[in-house]
Amino acid sequence: MAKLWQGVTAADTASAADAFNSSIGFDGRMYREDITGSMAHAQMLAKCGIITHTEAGQLVDGLQGILNDLGSGALQLDPNAEDIHMFVEEVLTARIGDVGKKLHTARSRNDQVALDMRMYLRSEIDEIASLAKELAAAVIACAEENKAAILPGYTHLQRAQPVTFGHHLMAYVSMLLRDLDRLGDCRRRLNVSPIGACALAGTTYGTDRVFEAGLLGFDGVTANSMDSVSDRDFCLELLSDLSILMMHLSRFAEELVLWSSWEFRFVRLSDAYTTGSSIMPQKKNPDMAELVRGKTGRVYGALMALLATMKSLPLAYNKDMQEDKEWLFDACDTAKACLNIFTGMISTMTVLPDNMLHAAQTGFINATDYADYLVSKGLPFRAAYKVAGETVALCTEKGFVLETLPLEDYRSVCELTDETVYDAVDLQKCVARRVSEGGASVASVEKQIALAKEALGLA
Ligand code: ARG
Repeated sequence: MAKLWQGVTAADTASAADAFNSSIGFDGRMYREDITGSMAHAQMLAKCGIITHTEAGQLVDGLQGILNDLGSGALQLDPNAEDIHMFVEEVLTARIGDVGKKLHTARSRNDQVALDMRMYLRSEIDEIASLAKELAAAVIACAEENKAAILPGYTHLQRAQPVTFGHHLMAYVSMLLRDLDRLGDCRRRLNVSPIGACALAGTTYGTDRVFEAGLLGFDGVTANSMDSVSDRDFCLELLSDLSILMMHLSRFAEELVLWSSWEFRFVRLSDAYTTGSSIMPQKKNPDMAELVRGKTGRVYGALMALLATMKSLPLAYNKDMQEDKEWLFDACDTAKACLNIFTGMISTMTVLPDNMLHAAQTGFINATDYADYLVSKGLPFRAAYKVAGETVALCTEKGFVLETLPLEDYRSVCELTDETVYDAVDLQKCVARRVSEGGASVASVEKQIALAKEALGLA
């Protein structure tokens, strides 16, 4: 079949080549952006006197009809079309006749696809950001309920120092806030219009790029026509941001897997977000958390794939760049699905503070506090550290913890210790004393929660 782009070429392309070339199977999802972009283009052409206002009206009405019919299902995307841009133009011309052929004046698919992608990703970012906010809100609610629930904080996955579950959760809220900030940056940078760059060199028509950009909600226009059609930084930037977001979710997911295990039993995941085993009747598997952890690799893969695709491409547009879409769309879909499932998982899980406290009571996580106590009695920290270490060894030998070790045993290692030591190693008090900015004390967690709520507009 003859193509709209059949100029110098005479013979038809092989059907295998048509199928190989076609992108409508995945760029069809940008039909709204493509059509809205074309409507603005028609208006700009009329405003600049390149077509008449009557013609622009016919184009806009025709495009609106296509938009409505695709939305209602009255019109289906043609899987044999080359891409969404060709499909829309072909249907338009079939419906409104020769005036449809004027739509593609002063533009090219190169700037058109760059426009569609920016518009599409702009709304994807908005959706992802709102899902990330919902997750942050769910985590904050759980942190608020558990701001005083003591558990061991870990380093090297070894019990280290007492913190609260609220404090631990707020660490993830800090990550999500940075993710949101990054998404906002990405959105701001991508929100400039490339349309009007045409194939690569701009155009001889007296167009108004700023007017067209304004109609489409852009903050400005791109500065260089060659860059406009060959830039995919905004895609890579979004994939980087999503990769970092997924990395955060994967760490959180991993902790949920650990915490919900029999070894920890810090939380119980709701039946609604776990599965059973087909063979072991006692099993309750944290599949959702594991899948989030697993899907992280998929998003990283998208970033790597597009970086590799873009590497060394000469300016300006190259068809290689059609390969940007499937990765990006998949990464956006994946991030949205993971955020959504995570919010459900967090808001339905049961926290088991008694088990957390029990874990905190073993493992000598207050040993640093004892060393700090000795410092307050005049020992230099390094010496205090050594005494605390020897005291822990004595506890282990005699079957005590620091809270229960008799005073004479303490004093057998260091004479400076008196009965006030029990106050110093009391877990609640250990946490309460972590008053440094951003520390684990309940007051600090409350402050973190207040700041996060303010940042999210929840306050
Ligand atoms: N489907 C193409 C893409 O996604 C649209 C741009 C085609 N441009 C071209 N010169 N063939 O990249």
